[in-house]
Amino acid sequence: MQGYERFKDLIFKKTEIDLSCYKERQMKRRIESLIKRNNFNSYEDYYNAINKDKKLYNEFINYLTINVSEFYRNPEQWEVLKNEIIPNLLKYKKKLKVWSAACSTGEEPYSLVMVLSNFFPLNEIKVLATDIDREALSKAIVGMYTAKSIERVPKEFKNKYFTTVGNSYKIIDDIKRCVEFRQHNLLKDDYPSDCDLVICRNVMIYFTEKAKELMYKKFNRALSEHGILFVGSTEQIILSHRYNFKACKTFFYKKIQ
Ligand SMILES: C[S@@+](CC[C@H](N)C(=O)[O-])C[C@H]1O[C@@H](n2cnc3c(N)ncnc32)[C@H](O)[C@@H]1O
Repeated sequence: MQGYERFKDLIFKKTEIDLSCYKERQMKRRIESLIKRNNFNSYEDYYNAINKDKKLYNEFINYLTINVSEFYRNPEQWEVLKNEIIPNLLKYKKKLKVWSAACSTGEEPYSLVMVLSNFFPLNEIKVLATDIDREALSKAIVGMYTAKSIERVPKEFKNKYFTTVGNSYKIIDDIKRCVEFRQHNLLKDDYPSDCDLVICRNVMIYFTEKAKELMYKKFNRALSEHGILFVGSTEQIILSHRYNFKACKTFFYKKIQ
């Protein structure tokens, strides 16, 4: 389908989402299937429609951002986080500054709070959680989840940190209070600084190599001296030393000076 270049420009002007930082083949395939599903024949017609129709626009943003998530996604890595990474960080610091980047609908930052609750009382835990997608963040703030999504939460936490509402599970306010949700675009906004742990999982896979390189550098600068970056299970960093990272465990990278 013709017209992707112009579409990317228009989307950037409208949303500040730079589609050229996302892997092109994959992104085009996804958008074109959405265009066809909505019975349009060109990028131009589709853009004109989403520009006028809020519902179509929201559908586009939602589709684009792929919000799939779950609590304790890849549980064995969360075990490493709990048993090795956090105890090691606590050798250097009494309090930890933690950032969940591209947090989607909240499963990841809430899982982090649960893991941290093994080490700190809840009123001492603060997790910054960011995502580009405002709708996902609104869902995170509501904190309502399906049984499937909380399947991997340890049993004692399921009872302690959720209440049942019909067939759903609502995260309790004491956990919610530990998380500050903020809208943030990883491609363009400033990153926080002095973080001891940054968790950014299952989003890098969508970006081009060039965009990833820039982000690794920014993550590196966002970390404190002994800080750790925790990535997704298909997102190992190739030649990580180029970005001043050293793998300390699979999927965990330590900042090197
Ligand atoms: C598949 S979810 C990953 C959620 C969670 N980190 C996990 O691993 O379960 C990907 C998230 O990345 C977000 N995202 C995509 N592009 C982004 C960007 N440029 N800046 C920040 N977040 C972005 C999407 O909105 C989506 O919520």
